[in-house]
Amino acid sequence: MEFSLINTPVQKFDGDMVVVFANSEATFGDANIQQLIELNHFESKSGSTLLLNLVQGFKAKQVLVLGLGELPNNAKNYIKALTAASSILSSTKAKSTMIEQVNIEGFDENWRHRVSARVLKDAEYEIQQVGAQEQVTSLENIAIQSTQTDAQAMLQGGSIASGMKLTRHLGDLPSNICTPTYLAQTAQDLSQEFNLDCEVLDEAEMSVLGMGSLLSVSKGSIEPPKLISLSYKGDGNAKPIVLVGKGVTFDSGGISLKPGAGMDEMKYDMCGAASVLGTMRAIAEIKPKLNLTIVVPAVENMPAHNASKPGDVVTSMSGQTIEILNTDAEGRLILCDALTYVEKFNPEVVIDTATLTGAVIVALGKHHCGLMANDQDLANDLISAGQQSLDTAWQLPLDDEYDELLKSNFADMGNIGGREAGTVTAACFLARYTKDYRWAHLDIAGTAWVSGAKKGATGRPVPLLTQYILDQAK
Ligand code: BES
Ligand code: MN
Ligand code: ZN
Repeated sequence: MEFSLINTPVQKFDGDMVVVFANSEATFGDANIQQLIELNHFESKSGSTLLLNLVQGFKAKQVLVLGLGELPNNAKNYIKALTAASSILSSTKAKSTMIEQVNIEGFDENWRHRVSARVLKDAEYEIQQVGAQEQVTSLENIAIQSTQTDAQAMLQGGSIASGMKLTRHLGDLPSNICTPTYLAQTAQDLSQEFNLDCEVLDEAEMSVLGMGSLLSVSKGSIEPPKLISLSYKGDGNAKPIVLVGKGVTFDSGGISLKPGAGMDEMKYDMCGAASVLGTMRAIAEIKPKLNLTIVVPAVENMPAHNASKPGDVVTSMSGQTIEILNTDAEGRLILCDALTYVEKFNPEVVIDTATLTGAVIVALGKHHCGLMANDQDLANDLISAGQQSLDTAWQLPLDDEYDELLKSNFADMGNIGGREAGTVTAACFLARYTKDYRWAHLDIAGTAWVSGAKKGATGRPVPLLTQYILDQAK
């Protein structure tokens, strides 16, 4: 799929399809289209579509009218319209299309270019059945109408979608294929393709570093754990942005075994890892002037005779001891050692992303990621990157009162804080390991995948993270 900017009237586009936008209670600029809109009783509601063939005055074979609802146009309706368009573009097997220019309230041209390219390219992702060939899509050329000639934002959008594609693919893979070893191999492949520095630590090397907490999670599994790091250098010796992604390739709960219903979805418990790998892919393609390192602790959480048991006490790399009260609160146990490990990169900021708690779905549902931070400026930057990319985050508190819930009689802390504020106490646990740098945590348990008939990974929060990183390059 190739993108370009063109500055010609939609009527003159000599390709398979032009995509135009209509508003309810507004007349369309082109009289032929307006007549057809009325004839078809098309109300131009948000998300609605009207496909017209051989429209008088148009060179393209088909015109697709997308409803944007009432004026002024808002960003959510624009994305909804483009998503509806992409399924029609694929079913009509159009090879080339032009997207009409339209004003979106509160957002500029660059935003429109970036988001259009991303949404159209992301919509082309299809879940690959195990053993099947990758599907080829028919849509080859997309021309975005613009009076502007700077194509940078549009190309960024394409790279963000290509990062999301990797993230979604890794998430959707079953856990018998996508193991910690598979994630390490994926990182190595990226390092080859984009000339990045890659390091993968095995169990023995992690043991030497004292990562007793991380290893307590993987020890009940036959799958060997990996600690993966991958670095992009676009700005010499500048301090890197460091992203850490939870990579539990299957979370059975361990000895604190999860109930059976829906347990298959715990193959998605590595979506934090997948999202930092996808973000790295996007950034390595875009090549901004900054340094980025991603770190992925990758393990499988299984019950076994040699698995951790409730009440076990382990020592983390930081020296702090942890009483494992619930082996299903394993994400924080692997993240805490990764968050200590990242100090070696001398980070500018550290952002972790993790499918950490079911409680975040209770608090925020499936729309916003949960955000917690030890630095309000960083939190604000992430919130605004989320609004720009329409991959939003909502902040939750991190007060000391919550931290007290982690008290243990047998170690420096327990790994759970009880029923209340589960998302916040999980973040309080992590905060004990991030005191020496600016840090934010994204709980993506509600946003990384969707359940039900359309079960599949979403590619979030790659748009948010990539937008945040690009904002830092300015
Ligand atoms: N991976 C889960 C969180 C999760 C649950 C994500 C459901 C998406 C859907 C995590 O490891 C976990 O099991 N968390 C526990 C924590 C509890 C034991 C304190 C949870 O949320 O129930
Ligand atoms: Mn768990
Ligand atoms: Zn988990």
